[in-house]
This record gives sequence, structure tokens and C-alpha cells, in this order.
Amino acid sequence: MSPKPTIHFFEITPDEHRYFQHTLKNHTVTFTDQPLNIESAELAKNADIISIYVTSRVEKKILELLPKLKLITCRSTGYDNVDLATIRHQQVLLSNVPGYGEDTVAEYTFMLMLALSRRLLPALEQARSGHMDHSTLTGFNLAGKTLGVIGTGAIGKHVVRIANGFGMKVLAYDPFPNQGLEYEYNMQYVKIIELLSQSDIVTLHAPYMAENHHMINKNAFDRMKPTALLINTARGELIDTQALVVALASQQLGGAALDVIEGEKLLELNEETELLKKTTDRGFNYVLEQLILEKLPNVIITPHNAFNSYEALEWIRHTTVDNIGSFVAGQPKNLVK
Ligand code: NAI
Repeated sequence: MSPKPTIHFFEITPDEHRYFQHTLKNHTVTFTDQPLNIESAELAKNADIISIYVTSRVEKKILELLPKLKLITCRSTGYDNVDLATIRHQQVLLSNVPGYGEDTVAEYTFMLMLALSRRLLPALEQARSGHMDHSTLTGFNLAGKTLGVIGTGAIGKHVVRIANGFGMKVLAYDPFPNQGLEYEYNMQYVKIIELLSQSDIVTLHAPYMAENHHMINKNAFDRMKPTALLINTARGELIDTQALVVALASQQLGGAALDVIEGEKLLELNEETELLKKTTDRGFNYVLEQLILEKLPNVIITPHNAFNSYEALEWIRHTTVDNIGSFVAGQPKNLVK
């Protein structure tokens, strides 16, 4: 590895631009606010290292345009937007930023949970309009309710910790249980079927992989309580959105708060013509499903924003510089295996 590699940052914000320009001033660094895609890949054709965020896609036809690439460093924990088989085949390494969401995303999860359980959105609307009707705003306590936590890694663990503070009963499911958690906190690992049928609120904190595509689907909704709330701050593709729409519309589910939604990358395309160019039949369905969800009174949608705290942003920037520095020094850190 040359001591002065060429690094290209995609999906960069003005603050990140200033930070990385300053901290990596001894390197050749270029920036774009565009995600990495077939059109923008040209910008990084000479790059040894690229840094991306969640809207970028790394797949075979894009990697072919980046012949010098040796390292991709994701400024995120999740890396489901990277085709792992292809990068392994091309001997490109991948690093991520583990753990930054442990407080940030866990706290956001509770914000969503409380906003749903205490009917915050209709309360705000009524306060703004001046037409108050408390009979339509009655909520429920978290204390004494059962929370089902799917995925007990960095974020899920902190969700368990906070839930204990609220006096909730906690059930958890993880294919790789962290047994120490059952000693540290008041919680119990159970089978996913049991978690779904017993929980008043189910919250998702698992990474997205092909194996858990639509893990929350019609079968899951059939098992859940009709009053249950579903919170997703993990990845949209974990939920079958069509089945969610049906479950909500038929009152088979009490409500949902979604920071992430299936097909969100398509939905981020602002220009309708761009959308028309890139979307598929399934893409139109995503748009339609989101429009329906946005109209339902028991649904909250936020724009993949759970990561967005000053503390998390600092963690992401610091770790990304460290990932690049350690790779250049020949001792790469935070590599995705
Ligand atoms: P982590 O890697 O520390 O924990 C993930 C846990 O999920 C692990 O314990 C793993 O064993 C478990 N898991 C794997 N497959 C599972 C399955 N099928 N069912 C249940 N559990 C499963 O990751 P961390 O930091 O807790 O983040 C979790 C996810 O949250 C990330 O992969 C990312 O997709 C998402 N995320 C979303 C953010 C946002 O802004 N909305 C910000 C940060 C992360």
C-alpha cells in the first residue's frame, strides 16, 4: 500500500467534508455528496480506498469501474448494501463502524415507542390546530408491558437496559444469544415464535441479510397481539411491507414506527423522472406502500435518522479515520469477515 493512497468519499455532508479534509490532510482525498452508483463511480476510478454510507451500492458492475480499489470503509454499522461475495472475489477489504448506535439508536427506539404508545403525533396536531379532544389521545404505560427485542448486539443490549429502567418485562431473540445479558439485566431469551406472541411491543435490532429477508411477515403478524406495536430502526427489508400494510389496515396490529423502510433507497430519489428511470414494478409498490403507511394514524415514519446524534457522528468520523489509518499502516481494523 502506497503511504499516500487516493481516497474518495461518497455521500458526504458539508460537516464531514470539513472534518475529513482536515484530519486526512496528508492524503489525496476527494469528495462527493452523491452515493456510489454506476454514474458516480467514475469519480473514484483512481481510488485505493472509498468511503460510503447506506445509500451507496457496491456490486459487481460498479467494482469493475474501480480497478485500483483495495478498501471500502462504510460509515455505518450495517453493510447490507455491499455484495460481500463480489468484494471477496476481487480481494477488496471492507471495514465498518461497529457499536456507534448503542446509545443513539437505543434512545431513538424509545422515542418512537413513547411517541406511539402516548399518541404524540395526534396530540401535536391537536395542539397546533387548537381542537383538543383528549378522548382520542389516550395512551398506555410502558411499565409492566412486555418488550420483544430481536437482535441483542450493541443496540439491542442497550434497548434491554433502558427497558429495565421503564419496568418492562423483556423477552429477546438472537441466533447467537449473549448469555451474560440474562445475568446483567432482567430479561429472558426465548424462541422467536414465543417473543412474537407474548410481546406488547416488538423492536428490531438485527442486521439485514438474505437469510432474514422479510423475517417479520404475514406469519409473524398472525402470531402477534392485535394491540402490539412494531418498531424498526434496523433495516426495512426485515419486514414484508405489504403484509405490514394489510396487518395495520385490518387491525391485526396496533401500530408501527419505522425509521427504515423497504426500498428507501428508491424513495430517496427526489426527481420523479429519476424514480421512473430506476424503479421496477416492485419499486412502484414500495412507493405505494409508503404512501399508504404515511396516511395511517397509528404509523410513524422517520427518514433513516436514528443514527443522527452528535455523539454518533463523532464516533463514525473518528472510527472511519482510524479504519483508513490502520489499513494504510498495514494493520486494518474493524474488518467485516
Ligand atoms: P450488532 O452487530 O452489534 O448486533 C446485531 C445482533 O443481531 C447480533 O447479536 C446478531 O447475532 C443478531 N442477529 C443476527 N441475525 C439475527 C436474526 N436473524 N434475528 C435476530 N438477531 C439476529 O449490530 P448493532 O450495532 O446492534 O446494529 C444492528 C443493526 O441496526 C445494524 O445492522 C443496522 O442495520 C441497524 N442500524 C440502523 C441505524 C439507523 O440509523 N436506523 C443506525 C445503526 C445501525
